[in-house]
Amino acid sequence: MNSDLEVARKAAREGVRTIKKYKEKGINIEQKGFHDLVTDADIATEKAIIKVIKEHFPEDEILAEESTAEDQLKDSRTWIIDPIDGTTNFAHGFPMYCVSVAMWEKKAPKVGVVIEVTRDEEFTAIAGEGAWLNGEAIRVSTKSEHKKAFVGTGFPYNDLSLIEPYLNLFRKLMQELQGIRRPGSAAYDLCCVACGRFDGFYEYSLHIWDLAAAALIIKEAGGVITDWDGEDRWAFGERIVTGNSNTHTFLLKMIGEYIPEEQRRVVTAEHSH
Ligand code: IPD
Ligand code: CA
Ligand code: CA
Repeated sequence: MNSDLEVARKAAREGVRTIKKYKEKGINIEQKGFHDLVTDADIATEKAIIKVIKEHFPEDEILAEESTAEDQLKDSRTWIIDPIDGTTNFAHGFPMYCVSVAMWEKKAPKVGVVIEVTRDEEFTAIAGEGAWLNGEAIRVSTKSEHKKAFVGTGFPYNDLSLIEPYLNLFRKLMQELQGIRRPGSAAYDLCCVACGRFDGFYEYSLHIWDLAAAALIIKEAGGVITDWDGEDRWAFGERIVTGNSNTHTFLLKMIGEYIPEEQRRVVTAEHSH
């Protein structure tokens, strides 16, 4: 038994309980940005998750969406939390939102848990040991032909600077792929790649808390995840492309063709380390 994973699961379960409690009693919604919402459930859920982690590991660092700045990721053991990923879905009573909890050390993921609340699907991973959905081992799909591929994507909330080339890419992919979806919870979308529902996924304007658990789940399920230059800088580059290796290669090629080079990369402080 991995005690980090057990604590991550316990904390995430406490998060799910808090979300359900708020859903029953009604939520207050505030607007962080035009597309970006936060509810009192997000804040309370984050607190509930942190409380469980602190009970077990009082010395560990916390990096949580609603309370910590992203550039604070240290080398020491750090719990990265997105209390509700898919708040817009949650606020509108639309399914597909989840709790995401991961533990990183030396800026690499060690364990990750994503629980989709409405279907009660629990995705877990331990670095070097595998990935599971409700306790059953999962693998990415083996599909090789992009004409048969089913792919997820996301639409940006705040940074609309890439909208033109991004829509051109979307138009092209609508014609090239079997299907394309925008479910609205990046962590869950990535888990859908990990268990083979999606053959690939790409998005930009993501943050470390969206990916911290789910990227490990994808890697442990045999998937590939990179930035838009095909480099291993997915964690802080805000732009990601992932999938089984064939779909990843295809999506990366399309991104290379449709997104101008200077817009494919975000240089953050983390990159210069
Ligand atoms: C959002 C979701 C969404 C993605 C946004 C994220 P939030 O997270 O993951 O799918 O497109 O970029 O910010 O705000 O619901 O935690
Ligand atoms: Ca999120
Ligand atoms: Ca969130």
